[in-house]
Amino acid sequence: MSVPKLESVVVQTTPFEDQKPGTSGLRKKVKVFMEKNYTENFIQCIFDALGCKLKGATLVVGGDGRYFSKPAINTIIRIASANEVSKLIIGQLGIFSTPAVSALIRQHKVLGGIVLTASHNPGGIRHDFGIKYNIENGGPAPDQISNNIYELTTKITQYKTTPTLETDRMIDILGTSKFNVDGREFTVEIIDSTKNYVALMKEIFDFNKLRALIRGTDKRPAFNILLDSMNGVTGVYVRNIFVEELGASPDNNVRRVVPLDNFGEIHPDPNLTYAKDLVDKLKENASYDFGAAFDGDGDRNMILGKNAFFVTPSDSLAVLANNLDCIPYFKKNGVHGFARSMPTAAAVDRVAAKLGKEMFEVPTGWKYFGNLMDAGRLSLCGEESFGTGSDHIREKDGLWAVLAWLSVIEHKNMGVEDILKEHWKTYGRNYFSRYDYEEVETEGANAMMQHLENLIVSKDFVGKTLASNCKTYKVANADNFSYVDPIDHSVAKNQGIRVLFEDGSRLIYRLSGTGSSGATVRIYIECYEKDDVLTDAQVMLRPLVNISLDIAQLKKFTGREEPTVIT
Ligand code: G6P
Ligand code: ZN
Repeated sequence: MSVPKLESVVVQTTPFEDQKPGTSGLRKKVKVFMEKNYTENFIQCIFDALGCKLKGATLVVGGDGRYFSKPAINTIIRIASANEVSKLIIGQLGIFSTPAVSALIRQHKVLGGIVLTASHNPGGIRHDFGIKYNIENGGPAPDQISNNIYELTTKITQYKTTPTLETDRMIDILGTSKFNVDGREFTVEIIDSTKNYVALMKEIFDFNKLRALIRGTDKRPAFNILLDSMNGVTGVYVRNIFVEELGASPDNNVRRVVPLDNFGEIHPDPNLTYAKDLVDKLKENASYDFGAAFDGDGDRNMILGKNAFFVTPSDSLAVLANNLDCIPYFKKNGVHGFARSMPTAAAVDRVAAKLGKEMFEVPTGWKYFGNLMDAGRLSLCGEESFGTGSDHIREKDGLWAVLAWLSVIEHKNMGVEDILKEHWKTYGRNYFSRYDYEEVETEGANAMMQHLENLIVSKDFVGKTLASNCKTYKVANADNFSYVDPIDHSVAKNQGIRVLFEDGSRLIYRLSGTGSSGATVRIYIECYEKDDVLTDAQVMLRPLVNISLDIAQLKKFTGREEPTVIT
C-alpha cells in the first residue's frame, strides 16, 4: 500500500487562562475541551514542553474511553504528526487503563504517554474530561513539567497539525498505519488494550494459586468474589484476567464490566458512597466472601470483606506491606521501602518499623512516589484516596491491589475481616476517616484555609488542649506540610494543614486538586488505639471530628452542615 504524502500547517491561536494541571492532569467539563482550539492548545503545549526530545519519539496514547476520547485522540494524532513525533501506540477504541499506560511506557521504553481520563470524575457530555501527561518512567509528570506546560499555555500563539491526515475509524481496528508528513515517516499502531498488562500481572502473581482460590479445590470451597468495574475501563481487564484466566463466573463474580462513555451516569469512584450498589449487594448476599470496586480509569480500588466489611485504604496498605512475601514478584525482587501520602493514616508506618524497612511520607499525588521507586528505595505505597500500588509500574493499580489481596487471602487461608482483626491485634489500629465537602464556593474554602493558617501560627495554639465529648487532645505541633524529595531535592510546599496531637492523633485539612468546578474541602481525621481495636470508626473518631469542624469554623466559612461524602 502506498504511504500517503501529507503536509502539516500552522494554525494561529490565542491562550486560555485556565489550563493549569491539577493533582493529576488537566480536568474540565467536556464542553470546555470542545471549545475551539482548547484541546489543540493544551496538546501543543505538552509537545512544546518536551522540546527537542519529541523529535522522532514514540508516545503511548489511550484512556478510560469516556465521552470525547475519540475526537481528542484524533486531534492528538494530527498534532503529533506535525510535531515530528515518529510513532503513536494507541489502545484499540482508545482504551487503556491508567496502569496499563504506565506499564506500556516502561515495557516499550518510550518517551511518555498521554492519558485521556478524568479518573473517578463522572463522564458523559455534561461531565468531565481530562488530559494527563506521563513521563518515561511511566509515572505522572512531575511538578516542573506540569508547571512548564501551564506556562506555555499562557503564551501560545500557534499550533501545528496535519488536517488532511484521515483518522476516521483508525483507532477502531488493530494494525499499523504509516504516513509521510512533511517528508518524514509517521506511524500509528493500534494495539490490544489488555495484552501487555495481563502478561505483566501473570509475571507478578501466581495465577495457578489464584485460580484455585476462585474456583475452589477438593480441600477448599470456592472463594466467592464480586468485582465491580462501575462501567469504567477495568471491565475489559476484569473479563480478561478474572473470567478468562482465573475462571471467575461472568454472571456471579463480576458486574458492570462493559465500559460506557458516560459510566452509565454513575460517579465511578470506589468508595462507600459512590459504590454503595456493591456494598448493598454484599450485604444482601452473605455468600460473597469478598468485594472490590475500581474507578473509571482503573487506578483506584476499594476492598470489602463478607457482609461488606470495609477495609480503609490505609489499612489495606498496611496489611499488604505485612504480607508481601507471599507474592512471587516481591520474593524475586525483594521488598525495599514503604511510603504513603501525608493524609493517609500511619498504619503502614508500624509495619515498616517492625520489618525494619525505610518509610516515606510524601504529599498527596502519585507522582511523588516515582523518584523513590526509580532510586530503588520504595516497593509498596498507597494513599487514603483508594490508591494502592507497587514499583511494578509508576501509577497506582486497582486490579493489582485486588490480585495482591487475593494472594494474601489464599496464602493465609483467612477471610478479609479475620486478616484485619489479626493485624490490629498485632499492631493496634489507626482509626481513620475523611470528610469531603464537595462543590463549596471557592472563596469560602480559601478563607477557611487562610483562617487555619492564621490559627496554627497564633500564640499558644501549640500546647493548647482541645476537648469534645469528654475527650481531650493536646496540640503537639501544627504546620502546613512541605516536602523535600530525597532524590532530586525538589520542594513541594503548602501541601495541607496538619494539627498533630500529643497522643499521635492528627487532623489534616486540604483543598482537593482534582475537581473541575468549585472547591472540595477535605478533612482527614486519625487516632491510634493499641487495645481498643474493634469500635466503630465513626464512634471512635466523633470527638476529633467535632474538634476539627470547630477549629476550622467550617460551617461559618462554607455554609455546610454535613459532608457530601464520608470515607
Ligand atoms: C488522584 C491522584 C492521587 C491523589 C488524588 C488526590 O487520584 O492520582 O494520587 O491522591 O488524586 O485527589 P485530591 O482530590 O485529594 O487532590
Ligand atoms: Zn483514577
